[in-house]
Amino acid sequence: MRIFMTGASGWIGSAVAPELLAAGHEVSGIARSDASVAALESAGVTPLRGSLDDLDVLRAGAEASDAVIHLGFKHDFNDMAASGRTERAALEVFGDVLAGSGRKFMFASGLAGAAPGTLLTEEYTSPYVGPESPRGGSENLALSFAERGIAPVSLRFSPTVHGNGDHGFAAELVRIARERGVSAYIGDGSNRWAAVHRFDTARMIALALQKAPAGTITHAVGEEGIPTREIAEAIGQGLDLPVISVAPEDAAAHFGWIATFFGMDVTASSKITRELLGWTPTEQGLLADIADYYVKAPAAV
Ligand SMILES: NC(=O)c1ccc[n+]([C@@H]2O[C@H](COP(=O)([O-])OP(=O)(O)OC[C@H]3O[C@@H](n4cnc5c(N)ncnc54)[C@H](OP(=O)(O)O)[C@@H]3O)[C@@H](O)[C@H]2O)c1
Repeated sequence: MRIFMTGASGWIGSAVAPELLAAGHEVSGIARSDASVAALESAGVTPLRGSLDDLDVLRAGAEASDAVIHLGFKHDFNDMAASGRTERAALEVFGDVLAGSGRKFMFASGLAGAAPGTLLTEEYTSPYVGPESPRGGSENLALSFAERGIAPVSLRFSPTVHGNGDHGFAAELVRIARERGVSAYIGDGSNRWAAVHRFDTARMIALALQKAPAGTITHAVGEEGIPTREIAEAIGQGLDLPVISVAPEDAAAHFGWIATFFGMDVTASSKITRELLGWTPTEQGLLADIADYYVKAPAAV
């Protein structure tokens, strides 16, 4: 198949593309900078120069493909509304191009939105509807594409897709611990994060491309819920720093933009995904990755 990707140069996408190429697919992807063009070329992905705002490039890429995997996202945590608008505009283009084709549209999504303490399953419907919702209400918009003769597949990622070289949420917690000289959790640290390894995620996406029917919601979840206190303890132990509690009202001052996410209770099952796809996560868990990689990575400058 000819697969068109956004986000092929990103943390998850750069693990997905090799899986697809190894399975014999042709892969193209947007690249907004010389560095991303070079990264895609060296991975064997054909670059299409453009950004997520270049809707003509998205259109051309999707038109020339048999399936689209949309992982690109503007991670501007200071203006998530703008990121959501970009996301929605991109999805509208993909919907128009793919309508009536029966082609697969696989897209990144998340596990947020449920009440704390809820173990999210693939049967859970996101409450986010409409352009002003988080991520532009993109999951519900994309799932509605099934009514337009498209085969949408939601890829709900754990809040941390971890592994060696990560620059995402877990790496940010390590950076903050180094900067502050303490490793902190919020309140009693009993709120949990689901987690999944990047390579397990890539294998799940490749399987979903093969096997997931239209309208499937997949959960990239390797571990259902790790207490954030244990995450802070693993970081503190690895960096030889004290582990402390930060009161919820002080969390924003201590953690900055990631406070909101680190204070969430996000637990999820992937039972349905595992059964449907025959997917079994095999990589090591988050706490082992923190000990082996995150705390040993050079401090960001
Ligand atoms: N990693 C996680 O733990 C996690 C958890 C939950 C959900 N997700 C979601 O999964 C998806 C992939 O995440 P990721 O961790 O792989 O993200 P990432 O490493 O930040 O990569 C983002 C990708 O989007 C591209 N991108 C960003 N802004 C762009 C723009 N304006 N125009 C074109 N491309 C642009 C980046 O291109 P450049 O290479 O040029 O920067 C990169 O390829 C995202 O939707 C993310 O929100 C990730």
